[in-house]
Amino acid sequence: MPAETARRYASQHARDFEESLFELLRIPSISTLAEHAADCEHAAQWLASKLRESGIENVAVITGPGRPLVYGDWLHAEGQPTVLVYGHYDVQPVDPIDGWESPPFDPVVRDGYVYARGAVDDKGLVMTLVHAAAACLSANGSLPVNIRFLIEGEEESGGEHIKQFLRAGDERLQADFAHVSDSAFFNRDTPSIETGLRGILYTEVKVTANSHDLHSGQYGGAAPNPLNSLAHLIARLRDAEGIISIPGFYDDVVTPDPGIVEGWSRLGVTPDSLSEEIGARRIIGEPAFTPLERMWSRPTLDVHGIPGGFTDLGAKTVIPASAAAKISMRLVPNQRAERIFELFERAVRELAPSDVTVEVEQIHGDDPVLVPGDTAPVRAASEAVHEVWGKAPVLTRSGGSIPVVGLIQERLGLDTVLLGYGLPGDNLHAPNERFLLDQFHKGIQANIEFWHRLT
Ligand code: BES
Ligand code: ZN
Repeated sequence: MPAETARRYASQHARDFEESLFELLRIPSISTLAEHAADCEHAAQWLASKLRESGIENVAVITGPGRPLVYGDWLHAEGQPTVLVYGHYDVQPVDPIDGWESPPFDPVVRDGYVYARGAVDDKGLVMTLVHAAAACLSANGSLPVNIRFLIEGEEESGGEHIKQFLRAGDERLQADFAHVSDSAFFNRDTPSIETGLRGILYTEVKVTANSHDLHSGQYGGAAPNPLNSLAHLIARLRDAEGIISIPGFYDDVVTPDPGIVEGWSRLGVTPDSLSEEIGARRIIGEPAFTPLERMWSRPTLDVHGIPGGFTDLGAKTVIPASAAAKISMRLVPNQRAERIFELFERAVRELAPSDVTVEVEQIHGDDPVLVPGDTAPVRAASEAVHEVWGKAPVLTRSGGSIPVVGLIQERLGLDTVLLGYGLPGDNLHAPNERFLLDQFHKGIQANIEFWHRLT
């Protein structure tokens, strides 16, 4: 049986596959920092070589605005479906660097986990796809379905390159459905397939109060302080529980069917279990909604950083000339990023104290997306997961965002299977990011099974 021979090949080459993942993890491909542009290029070239070595054809590093895309295909499974396989090679910045127990770009294995930036988000998952294809091609000389790889380098920074590529309708995008691997199981005992992602609107609000920095003793009391004004403004955008006061913000929010919410309630997440998981005294949020609803089907407004003034060790008595806040909103069906930006900008201007001038910039914006859970590809993925983990997956949603999925639906008209093998506690976007190697190897097995069950 071809699936079995490929799976056996993958088991026999498990150590080589780990080594190859570690090589990719050593490349610091942080997309949001301009000084790492060459590292992104390096990661793209590395992946292109890996795909070629694996027997994937028509491999190309596609340059354009921002970081390169990597494409490759294998289209010899006549009469079989074509799968557009997606992942991203770019990673988040590593700060705060002091929080890491080992250097972020020097992968090390501790207790069965590989620790490195990008281990699970998303290089580890990208390599479950690449190695699955390599195992099929090496063991059988063929793949059971036609496959097109599309790996991007700006997922973490909301970049435009892949969006332009999709909008341009390149013929290399012709497929029957997409297989996106950039997500996690619900927990170690509960494999899952996701059916929805939140959208995101990421903004920067800059306030300017004075033409230059001032001594806070000399002028304080009379001089406006942009940091105080910004704090005041932010405090009026949402209350302490997270309920957002922007007029019209909730107008287009739809509540999922009661049956779906009921299914989530059986997953056993309580306020106590969640506060324990995240190490908080208590969770916050809208009292009328369960913790999972708050994270999967309700929108948010979060501040990520407030650059400005003095933040070094020690003390400096300054009133800065200006300050800024990075603020994002997670969006849910049927909110639209474009509309929410208009509402946000208007509210910020109205709420801003009169002593500051305000600039509101949209850094990126992506709509939320739901994907159907009752398609033949989702059933095939579900069977594959059942086979490898011995348990059928549950259908969940994610509170995170993967911008390309909305475009795959809208522009290409394709359904997506959201199948990723991370686990809670993998520290995405945080120090000590990790990926359980057992999940890595099972992920390779599951991808092989999945593709074989599509025929
Ligand atoms: N892999 C994540 C998305 C994700 C997060 C899926 C948590 C499942 C659980 C992805 O790489 C990511 O972080 N996306 C960004 C997108 C944004 C910067 C446009 C996000 O959600 O913040
Ligand atoms: Zn990711």
